[in-house]
Amino acid sequence: MLIQIFAILASVLAVNCFTAPFSLCEGRSPLSTNISVDVTPCELSSTNTSCLFSRGDNTNFTIYFTPQVNVSTPIERVIMAKFAKKLKNKYVEVPYGGGVNADDRTFLVGEDGTFESVEGKGLVSGKQYFFNNIFNILSSSPKTTLWARYLIREAKPCKKSKCNWLLHPGQLLVCVEIPVTIV
Ligand SMILES: *[C@@H]1O[C@H](CO)[C@@H](O)[C@H](O)[C@H]1NC(C)=O
Ligand SMILES: *[C@@H]1O[C@H](CO)[C@@H](O)[C@H](O)[C@H]1NC(C)=O
Ligand SMILES: *[C@@H]1O[C@H](CO)[C@@H](O)[C@H](O)[C@H]1NC(C)=O
Ligand SMILES: *[C@@H]1O[C@H](CO)[C@@H](O)[C@H](O)[C@H]1NC(C)=O
Repeated sequence: MLIQIFAILASVLAVNCFTAPFSLCEGRSPLSTNISVDVTPCELSSTNTSCLFSRGDNTNFTIYFTPQVNVSTPIERVIMAKFAKKLKNKYVEVPYGGGVNADDRTFLVGEDGTFESVEGKGLVSGKQYFFNNIFNILSSSPKTTLWARYLIREAKPCKKSKCNWLLHPGQLLVCVEIPVTIV
């Protein structure tokens, strides 16, 4: 159930963007600089440390990044929900499905501000890109606080023992954790 908190509806381009709170994942460094996250809408909690969402909301997530490596497409995005367990100060990580092709939701930003899909073109070191998609916070979602962990990486087959994101053979372009509270 918890892994179904998010359902992907479509990919669109955010215009009125808001820079949301996020942190880089610990344990593996992404091969990108200038990583930022926009969430529209994002009503900040009273502590400004997470976006508040109501069940049924549709929310635009956009992640900007500049790779420091050349990567051939396809690339994929992986989502995990990370929960703080009440006892023992431990985190619980729940994968949201497997890797999903991200080429059609990832765009190269040109110097004039226009953008084009990376589909079939690969990503070039030093250029600015963004990934965008809309999530529907299901009306059946529990009221909870979690981190939505987003990974964008080179799509590559992995041997079972190496499919964990820390060991995955695909080059890791982005890994961010966005704190989310569903009210
Ligand atoms: C997502 O972004 C698109 C383009 O800016 C906008 O038309 C749409 O209303 C946004 N959706 C939400 C839920 O903010
Ligand atoms: C949250 O951010 C808003 C806008 O930046 C600011 O006005 C407000 O004081 C902040 N609240 C807290 C509790 O930091
Ligand atoms: C990426 O590819 C370009 C040519 O498309 C090349 O000039 C550049 O040196 C490459 N960068 C890296 C980091 O491999
Ligand atoms: C990285 O961010 C800085 C500061 O926002 C900006 O000046 C620079 O153009 C960005 N670089 C790329 C490659 O997007």
